[in-house]
Amino acid sequence: MARTKLVAGNWKMHGDIAANQTLLNALKAGAAGSRAAMAVCVPFPYLAQARSALAGTPIAWGAQDVSRHAQGAYTGEVSATMLKDFECRYAIVGHSERRAYHGETDELVAAKADAAIKSGLIPIICVGETLAEREGNITAAVVTRQLDAVVSCIGAAGLAKSVVAYEPVWAIGTGKTASPEQAQEVHALIRARVAAVDAHVAAGLQILYGGSMKPSNARELMAQPDIDGGLIGGAALVAADFLAIGAAA
Ligand code: PGA
Repeated sequence: MARTKLVAGNWKMHGDIAANQTLLNALKAGAAGSRAAMAVCVPFPYLAQARSALAGTPIAWGAQDVSRHAQGAYTGEVSATMLKDFECRYAIVGHSERRAYHGETDELVAAKADAAIKSGLIPIICVGETLAEREGNITAAVVTRQLDAVVSCIGAAGLAKSVVAYEPVWAIGTGKTASPEQAQEVHALIRARVAAVDAHVAAGLQILYGGSMKPSNARELMAQPDIDGGLIGGAALVAADFLAIGAAA
């Protein structure tokens, strides 16, 4: 099955209204040169700005997290329906920074993916091993555990409405990229694991690579058979770099 590629930016906790506007304007102006579908996942306060800048353009927008709860006394949380109110298409869930700094468990990540899907958002579900886990030769076990928690919660039907991102923690923001072979190996493992549940869903599943993807390595990474795009941190803050990655897809 031919899968379209997706290049999604994860702005993390960067930006201000003026800088965002410059970046969004440049992305809008260059979007036609992208071979991939493009999206930006911005901090919550800037969703309205992203919507007004990007509505009617080919670039989608989304958030970097979402609550597992539909509504209620959950101070500081943002629900999937609120994100839909701002016409988000995507919500990242389970980013390694949320897992590491906010204690998000596999079970919570799966519940967030479920909440996103139930509101019509597409969760970008992040999985990936730390350096210690890679060096301990448990990459496959870790990624499988993270993925299985999601599969048992949302099933193949949920995965059909999701995107998965493989982000080796040791490659995030470090300038150390997984080699195309290292990344492909894990992407193939993810696809095979999903195929064991539903081959059709596995064949259509977009699996993004994230971790120091940049214009100089994007083409080689995205040329791998199971790499369907990128989740881009640092390079998504530089319009020319982000657009170049889209053009390399
Ligand atoms: P990076 O971040 O591209 O800056 O390594 C990727 C991510 O954390 O999603």
